[in-house]
Amino acid sequence: MTNRLRLGVNIDHVATIRNARGGEHPDPVRAAEIVAHVGGDGITAHLREDRRHIRDSDLQRIQEATNLPLNLEMAATEEMLEIALRHKPHAACIVPERREERTTEGGLDAAGQHNHLAPIVSRLLDADIRVSLFIEPDPRQIEAAIRLKAPVVEFHTGKYAHCVDDAQVAELQRIAEAAALAAKNGIEPHAGHGLTFENVQPIAAIPQLAELNIGHYLIGEAIFIGLEESVRKMRTLMDMAR
Ligand code: PXP
Repeated sequence: MTNRLRLGVNIDHVATIRNARGGEHPDPVRAAEIVAHVGGDGITAHLREDRRHIRDSDLQRIQEATNLPLNLEMAATEEMLEIALRHKPHAACIVPERREERTTEGGLDAAGQHNHLAPIVSRLLDADIRVSLFIEPDPRQIEAAIRLKAPVVEFHTGKYAHCVDDAQVAELQRIAEAAALAAKNGIEPHAGHGLTFENVQPIAAIPQLAELNIGHYLIGEAIFIGLEESVRKMRTLMDMAR
């Protein structure tokens, strides 16, 4: 196997279940420990403005519980910037966020929001936090990421995950071309959103991709087969695709 693809596990939805009853169980920290135990490469968590899953206090507890790098998904707001600078996660992935959405629907408009994003990106980079921009696999957005000096982009695979047949093949091609363009320009490409055991392999086979971030499906499968097995199986499928 060459060019190992990293797996970041998004544990938000462990917190979603915990918050359904307002108590402490199930604890996303325990999920982070299991991910570390089975060889996951990172923990991803999205602290949303409405705190619907991950809470502020979870961040420090996750950082203390494992040595895995934490990838904090955050909206480009002063509040989230201040939290990121305080917690100093390994990485911050800037995502678009709308209060009424169920999940992150579509990528960040890095091109249209250059002036808003530029100071946020540079303050995170100055604090030694690796910045990633969650964008559509679109050359215009990659050019914006180059101008913003983002070292990483994460391509939104939601469209790929939700379409079928020719449309899915076309979207896969768009992601592959975007990954090649990013890598050619010195940007490390990642991908994520809506990935499952069934659809992960064509994405994992794109050679320039360095990391996938996967959450909802892994946590959902964990109900049936356990979190260890769920992460292990995804890891195996990713490795087989390379
Ligand atoms: N990457 C980013 C930037 C995301 O916002 C999300 C969803 O929170 C994911 C990856 C994981 O998506 P999913 O939960 O659909 O696997």
